[in-house]
Amino acid sequence: MNNLLVTGGAGFIGANFVHYWLSNHTHDKIWVLDALTYAGNRANLDPTDNDPRFTFVHGDIGNTTLVETLLREHSIDTLVHCAAESHVDCSITGPDAFLETNIMGTYSLLKAAKTVWLDEPKAAGQEPALHRFHHVSTDEVYGTLGPKDPAFTEETSYAPNSPYAASKAASDHLVRAYHHTYGLQVTTSNCSNNYGPYHFPEKLIPLVMTHILHDKPLPIYGDGLQICDWLYVEDHCRGIELVLKKGRIGENYNIGGNNEWANIDIAKLIRRLMNEAFAGDASLKSRYSEGTCAAVGESEQLISYVKDRPGHGRRYAIDATKTNNELDYIPAESFETGIRKTLTWYLENDDWWRSVMYGSYQQWMTDQYTS
Ligand code: NAD
Ligand code: DAU
Repeated sequence: MNNLLVTGGAGFIGANFVHYWLSNHTHDKIWVLDALTYAGNRANLDPTDNDPRFTFVHGDIGNTTLVETLLREHSIDTLVHCAAESHVDCSITGPDAFLETNIMGTYSLLKAAKTVWLDEPKAAGQEPALHRFHHVSTDEVYGTLGPKDPAFTEETSYAPNSPYAASKAASDHLVRAYHHTYGLQVTTSNCSNNYGPYHFPEKLIPLVMTHILHDKPLPIYGDGLQICDWLYVEDHCRGIELVLKKGRIGENYNIGGNNEWANIDIAKLIRRLMNEAFAGDASLKSRYSEGTCAAVGESEQLISYVKDRPGHGRRYAIDATKTNNELDYIPAESFETGIRKTLTWYLENDDWWRSVMYGSYQQWMTDQYTS
């Protein structure tokens, strides 16, 4: 039986992780600590609200005292750190929040974990109990690949290219240092692009889906030939579970989807699947009366090439051999199956995405895409 603290649990990956964990670990309890920034959505956790094993705490990971209190009072033995500023484009227009949350916020969590898990038992003349600080990181710390380069391994040198990636790289180094210097029991996973339910529509896949449903342009950066390795979010959650259960302390594990796709091909695939969905289900036409292009099978004309993202990598790809060999990690979903599940979820949950596409989101879309 474990007591988990999940930071950023109201975000995309954190919420999926909470649902996954509660479904698969019936005796465990979870506390979520989340500041509910623009990307955090309390409704992502609605399905767990009546579950006595779940508690939501509204707060900032930078509040070290609060984190210490949570760890101490609830006998937390496992911290899964998902809280972050996560959108690369936002890090280009406003890096401050990225350095504050991703670097200083992670440092605050590490300090609290050291105090409660290492220093307090030592002061009481006790050995530290088993504990785990798991840090969720990204493949973007490794930089970018050429078309024929081998995929990123855990041995690839760090070469971050955006303020976001640099802030994640710094946090990875801090986590590593707390293990080597103080003996904190840490693991880190570096994963590729996730997709699936609760994905905030500032990111490519939900943005393309929701824009088709509104007959809005699908903005493709540069020539659209940049490649990402797409990972269905539930596969990622299973990968984290395997690292928690079987991973070696102090190690990094890559988690990928074996799914390299060019951005333009993703937009075209979603367009095709959306046209098919509308053709096969007459009720969608009335439900999404704004989505005329999909209804008449012409959503391809929405594709619109726009100015490229500064510092944009050409290719990101994960070599998960170490994770496969040591932890038996294999992604269950292909892109074809995962993207169909995701599309179905977005078509069935328009209340969710309509409710997050207002206010600061509208302002961001205008600022980011108008010019
Ligand atoms: P997200 O932006 O959807 O969610 C981040 C969550 O963190 C939000 O709920 C937000 O409210 C919360 N948060 C932000 N600042 C906070 C603070 N100071 N204190 C407490 N909570 C705070 O992000 P995501 O896509 O779910 O990413 C989760 C983690 O996974 C991040 O560390 C990200 O770097 C990493 N990651 C994401 C992807 C991806 O494709 N989404 C891929 C690789 C790695
Ligand atoms: O690789 C892992 C990373 O994946 C995570 O570390 C980040 O937290 C997560 O946000 C994601 O970053 P990306 O920048 O890859 O995700 P995004 O969905 O923003 O972009 C995916 C690709 O699509 C990227 O090559 C940029 C491109 N793109 C994105 C947007 C938003 C477009 O062409 N047009 C767009 O409007």
